Amino acid sequence: MKKLLLFILPLLIIVAIVFTVFGVIQVRFQEEKLRDDLMRKARAVAESMELSARYSLLNNDLRSAQRLADRFQLRERVQGCAIYDKEGKIVVITQRFEDWKEKEKPYIAEILENKTPRGSLETFKQYSVYSYIMPIMDDENNTVGLVEVIYDTSYVFAMLTEWWRRISLTLIILVVLIALVSLLIQWRIFILPVKQLTEWFQHFQRGDISHAHPVKDRGELGKLASEVEQVALSLRVARKTISEEAEVRLQKEELWTEGKLRDLIRAKLGENALFIVSNREPFMHVIDEAFGMPRCIRPASGVVTALDPILRACGGTWIAHGSGNADKKFTNSKNKLGVPPEDNRYILKRVWLTKEEEDGYYYGFANEGLWPLCHNTHTRPVFRESDWQMYKEVNRKFAESILEELPVKSPFIFIQDYHFTLLAKIIKEKRPDATIALFWHIPWPTPESFSICPYQKEILDGMLGCDLIGFHVQNHCNNFLDTANRLLESRVDTEKFSVVRLGKETFIRAFPISVNGYFSGNIIKVAPEQIRTIKEEFNLQDKIIALGVERIDYTKGIVERMLAVDRFLEKYPQYKNKFVFIQLAAPSRTHIKRYHDLMAEIDELVEKKNWKHLEGSWRPIIYLKRHFSPEEIAPFFQLADICIVSSLHDGMNLVAKEYVSSKRDLNGVLILSSFTGAARELTDALQINPYSIEEFADSIKLAVEMPQEEKIKRMENMRKIVSENNVYRWAANIITELTALKKF
Ligand code: G6P
Repeated sequence: MKKLLLFILPLLIIVAIVFTVFGVIQVRFQEEKLRDDLMRKARAVAESMELSARYSLLNNDLRSAQRLADRFQLRERVQGCAIYDKEGKIVVITQRFEDWKEKEKPYIAEILENKTPRGSLETFKQYSVYSYIMPIMDDENNTVGLVEVIYDTSYVFAMLTEWWRRISLTLIILVVLIALVSLLIQWRIFILPVKQLTEWFQHFQRGDISHAHPVKDRGELGKLASEVEQVALSLRVARKTISEEAEVRLQKEELWTEGKLRDLIRAKLGENALFIVSNREPFMHVIDEAFGMPRCIRPASGVVTALDPILRACGGTWIAHGSGNADKKFTNSKNKLGVPPEDNRYILKRVWLTKEEEDGYYYGFANEGLWPLCHNTHTRPVFRESDWQMYKEVNRKFAESILEELPVKSPFIFIQDYHFTLLAKIIKEKRPDATIALFWHIPWPTPESFSICPYQKEILDGMLGCDLIGFHVQNHCNNFLDTANRLLESRVDTEKFSVVRLGKETFIRAFPISVNGYFSGNIIKVAPEQIRTIKEEFNLQDKIIALGVERIDYTKGIVERMLAVDRFLEKYPQYKNKFVFIQLAAPSRTHIKRYHDLMAEIDELVEKKNWKHLEGSWRPIIYLKRHFSPEEIAPFFQLADICIVSSLHDGMNLVAKEYVSSKRDLNGVLILSSFTGAARELTDALQINPYSIEEFADSIKLAVEMPQEEKIKRMENMRKIVSENNVYRWAANIITELTALKKF
């Protein structure tokens, strides 16, 4: 619109100037003409009065002079007449013009002397009048008096105003007409074809390749359209070739790598791009508090750890909440950016939420309601109606944002987690052809636990909009099937592991999630100096190092871990000064009271236990409370002789798998809570019940004292499991399952 105005505005300004100049000249000309006209009329009247006035003056007959004056004032637009004697004194004047006598008239003497008539505009009681004065002569050419005719000039102004009104009106009509015609021409010859071309290209991008480009123009625009069409054609051919080559390679390779996953996705989904939706974004731009400059961070999230390698491998679009305080600065007009920032491999589309939306949907319903509902940690879920309304609102908002992006043919959408239980149903209403999978990254509770949720039916109904729902372990699948069976009108097929509701079937499967595995080139390299620096900074030389890496969350068993370290040192004091426990803790969901209280509780506990065991400069617990990037965590994994994962309840827990995956030297022991999904696969870890502090403390001792060969053996076994069941296999299994269920 701005550009359109730029085009039309100069044109309109020129037209307006030309028209105004022309108008001014016209009006001036008219004004002069009217004045001349007035003067001639006044003179005619004065001349016609002259004779009778002379007679009256010579005979001193003032009564007939008065009659004369009264008679002439009846003429059209004449306001008054006056007759002066030879001294220039008014002897007769039209009655209503009586005050005219008082007016100063310095020019009278001049007229008497020069004996020449005079016509001029005069002011009388704030009005403008035209006065014409003519000398009256006797036969000897002596001045016997003057006759004055006073004319009303208001009609001149009225006529000039009318002229201006007409000129302005014509100008306005002209300007509007020119603007309309220019807009129309511009729309027809420029905007419309470009718009059609953009729409056509958008359709092409989304997979609709059945039409030729719509631009009929043979000129420059037509040439551009043909060029765009050529590029589009090459793109299509390239995509087809890639997808066919992928199919061939897929049959050859055995191990799941990022390349193999890429081939699978291309072969199975072809030109259909992959769409991932999650609340947490994989890259977040935040203002660095120390320097006040924006920086890009990788949020501490299992979802991000697992899914980022998949999108890096296959490309596609990841739609997530733009929650970083500098996020808006780094997105384009469509709220997108290429990520990773240093090597764009896929598209991140950020969805903006208001503070109220984030509060109700994320902090409220998702994290104070569903999170404690699904984790068995005895934290009471809170369900507020207002949070639920916001949660629904945000699910709708995300649905709109996704729908804008979908290709025309059979899109594949992969939703993550408990933030979006309603999304699949909303999307399916608009795009029944879409294939939708949901992966639930946290545990699914028993039907009894789930039934306390006041919105249970809508949540289950929303989730059953999916074609496939994945959980980490079979137990969670069983719980979900039981829940659907008991709480919703649906038919559960225990043979096929599916739920049928209102004729729509949803398959339920276990897919244990993982990390990208140590064989991939993506493993972060750690330089020996990094290890040295950390050892020096924290005085770790010759110490046995145990490590914990977590978001500060009550499900992670951080408090229990501190208590177990304390008990271990109480029970086995020979390890004082020899053992150090490092906890890397990323603050999380800090606006929720439970999390806030937990942070304070851990701070206090660390303080108390360090004070209790303090010996010289040695303290048993090093508590580092801040966000750590994967690059910063990597040297700590290398250093750690023991990694402790003591979740009270956890869907999978990827820290356990990351530790195993990073231990190339096989020199490490994993202590793992049996309440994590990972415990089913990593049976060579030292499994603990984190609630049993005695058993936990003894496991730390076991880990510290484990013979080298046993450590190596256990670590080898676990690494084999993680490498074979890596995240590429996880994604491949989901896609293979989906494509087997649904024809693309
Ligand atoms: C868990 C959830 C994820 C979430 C992550 C981090 O792993 O399953 O969906 O992203 O925690 O939590 P946050 O609330 O910081 O995203």
